[in-house]
Amino acid sequence: MHILLIGNGGREHAIAWKLAQSPLVTRISVAPGSAGIAEEPLVERVALDISDHAGLCNYAIEHDVHLTIVGPEVPLVAGIVDFFNNASQRIIGPTAAAAQLEGSKAYAKEFMRRHAIPTARYATFTDAEQAHAYLQEQSAPIVIKADGLAAGKGVVVAQSMAQAHAAVDAMLADQAFGTAGSTVVIEEFLVGEEASFIALVDGKHCLPFATSQDHKARDEGDLGPNTGGMGAYSPAPVVTNEVQEHIMRDVVKPSVAGLIKDGTPFKGFLYVGLMISDKGKARVVEYNVRLGDPETQPLLMRLESDLLTLLDAATDGTLDTVQAIWNDQSALGIVLAAGDYPSSGSNGEAISGIGKAEQLDCKVFHAGTDLVKDQYVTNGGRIVCVSALGNDITEAKQSADNGAAQISFAGMHYRRDIGYRALARLKSD
Ligand code: AMP
Ligand code: GLY
Repeated sequence: MHILLIGNGGREHAIAWKLAQSPLVTRISVAPGSAGIAEEPLVERVALDISDHAGLCNYAIEHDVHLTIVGPEVPLVAGIVDFFNNASQRIIGPTAAAAQLEGSKAYAKEFMRRHAIPTARYATFTDAEQAHAYLQEQSAPIVIKADGLAAGKGVVVAQSMAQAHAAVDAMLADQAFGTAGSTVVIEEFLVGEEASFIALVDGKHCLPFATSQDHKARDEGDLGPNTGGMGAYSPAPVVTNEVQEHIMRDVVKPSVAGLIKDGTPFKGFLYVGLMISDKGKARVVEYNVRLGDPETQPLLMRLESDLLTLLDAATDGTLDTVQAIWNDQSALGIVLAAGDYPSSGSNGEAISGIGKAEQLDCKVFHAGTDLVKDQYVTNGGRIVCVSALGNDITEAKQSADNGAAQISFAGMHYRRDIGYRALARLKSD
């Protein structure tokens, strides 16, 4: 079967790598893909932009594509699924209406209020004066969020009120995030440990994926600016069986039911970013309407089931008839990023050592690379994600660290402490 995969990042590389292992898959077209993704068996690149819904849909029709899979949020929020649905082309992902859960933080907060889903207290503003006045009655730390899509960078966790006021000015007065920041959400700071909980949803049924955790802050110790994610691992020890039951009962199932009630049933990957308190109580920090990046890289290394079978069941509304089997190993991925990420990226710097890392049993998923005369060069903010399996998180981290140490490019930055919370839990057990 011929699959069309939309996107070009590390997440899409992991999806293509996993799909290429499926006995059902004969051809994987990735639009636009990357030089690294094109190295996988069965994969070819298609020079179409992710925003060219008509071009992508025509490609699917002309090439008899069995299923189109959408990696990133931007085409989902822009309505690519609606476009394919109107043309009766099979695609997995939410409609634009359902994708609002990620496309607008204010919408997501109202959705949670409507459906009594646990989350932080908040208020929404379009007027800077009113936002400043509201802040006068609050105390730090406090969280300021741009309403729209900002690639994980539109959130300021303000440690002082001066920082909070400055964030409001940057978003509302100076339009640092353009129209994405013309509405801001000001939100109570939640204390606890974060975890990512991803479920595949077919409109009605949901199939929970294995647990995972990512590190959003750029620097070690979870310091520095927020990024799209600097590393991730699976499983997430903070999500015990009991916490998982609570998340399914109080967050995921009410979300899926709420989406049905609102007339916007959800198909695709529903990703809930959670803050888990020390008492095991989960509250929603954000929704995403697609797989996480970099969570997907370690997650798919643990998936034993055939990915296409699961995606077909989600597309056809028969998820209750399939099961996802995960190996009982741990997986951990370390993102090697440009020194200036997230404010800017790196371009044209030669990357060495990818082959050596792969000889050490790591899988290197490409995110921002290009191939120039047989030499991989940097082309983006997050460059690669070095991922490895192990019998536990300690072993997986050791292998990924060894792999990362083989790779270098000018200005390379990565965190040496990915997984530190999980390691601390292992030691305290
Ligand atoms: P978001 O894009 O909403 O996931 O926010 C990005 C990151 O900011 C999250 O992963 C958290 O690390 C942090 N964050 C967001 N909202 C809160 C909150 N209410 N309390 C504490 N940290 C938060
Ligand atoms: N790793 C967080 C995200 O994909 O948004």
